[in-house]
Amino acid sequence: MTSSLPQHERPEGAAKPRKIRDGVFWIGAVHWERRLFDALIPLPDGTSYNAYLVRGSEKTALIDAVDPDLADVLMGQLDRVDTVDYLVSQHAEQDHSGAIPQVLARYPSAKVVANPKAKGMLMDLLAVPEEAFITVEDGETLSLGDKTLEFVYTPWVHWPETMSVYLREDKVLFSCDLFGSHIASTDLFATDEVRVYEAAKRYYAEIMMPFRSVVEKDLAKLAPYDIALIAPSHGPVYPRPSFIVDAYNEWVSGPPKNVVVLPYISMHGSTKLLVDRLTASLVEKGVTVELFDLAVVDIGKLAMALVDAGTIVIGTPTVLVGPHPNVAYAALLANLLRPKVRFLSVIGSYGWRTKAVQTLADLTANLKVEVLDPVFARGLPAAADYDALDQLATRIAALHKENGFA
Ligand code: FEO
Repeated sequence: MTSSLPQHERPEGAAKPRKIRDGVFWIGAVHWERRLFDALIPLPDGTSYNAYLVRGSEKTALIDAVDPDLADVLMGQLDRVDTVDYLVSQHAEQDHSGAIPQVLARYPSAKVVANPKAKGMLMDLLAVPEEAFITVEDGETLSLGDKTLEFVYTPWVHWPETMSVYLREDKVLFSCDLFGSHIASTDLFATDEVRVYEAAKRYYAEIMMPFRSVVEKDLAKLAPYDIALIAPSHGPVYPRPSFIVDAYNEWVSGPPKNVVVLPYISMHGSTKLLVDRLTASLVEKGVTVELFDLAVVDIGKLAMALVDAGTIVIGTPTVLVGPHPNVAYAALLANLLRPKVRFLSVIGSYGWRTKAVQTLADLTANLKVEVLDPVFARGLPAAADYDALDQLATRIAALHKENGFA
């Protein structure tokens, strides 16, 4: 996607700004080939970095830049834009700010509009000079003539400096990473809501879930706004805002579901026997189970399952007295993502000695869970182990019912 040609030698007719409202254009870049974010998060469907151009009767604002890898795509679209007066930075992370230096080089009189926290970060991360900034407070407005930008602080979606921008006259909310989805597509709008729901849920799980309590406050803060269009920083624009807002309210605040997420590894088959028995026993009692073999897992899928799960059961063999390293990794990940899961247990196997339960308990210390009795088999599971698994399933089903997980 990235052109190796210098700007002035690129052919005409590459990406063009795309209108989303009169005077409002998507001017971002679609990264079809990207398969990993932060050297951690799988991107099975690529992603996009959405920048938006807002032309008022007197001034023009660019909302966000793009990832530096695709800076030439943004700059090519700006070939058609004579003036940028303001470069609004909603978020200092480089996938939205990385091309700011190139934009400033093209429009040296443009001012970077950011909140004070973002200003400091942009100076640290990109060496944007202090004199380039105008800082804005929460609720402050900026007139572009016949269009007005209102800055709404929405912290921790998912950095401390993140803010949204509300375009009053057109009722467009530029929502930063909030409501985003990693999808590479030529579809500007979220017309295939089934596809976007899955991608947005995955994105929420990986990026927003650790800050659930603050995101809940951000959603409450945005609730009174009359919003006709949500324009996030990744993925398609939402012409039906209630679709994604309702989904977020459910993910953030809804009760856990009658679901057990069961990530596991089995080396010689004993742990898998336990996993299969517990799964069958839970299913028999009306509990949905989602299994993840950690030898082949897409961690994004695992994160997504954790959004709604009532219980996590971790399955592990014993490796050098501890859990399998892949299991430790998954436990650490769950601990970082802090889902609303309420119960946790560990099942597994060992040859002569194990400290796997204690290690996994330490690795999941952030989770506000009730820990249920573990079931560990020495070698192949015996009848007593299967009985213990059935009891664990009975306990989980009862707890889900008592707590109203449906
Ligand atoms: Fe899409 Fe937090 O950057």
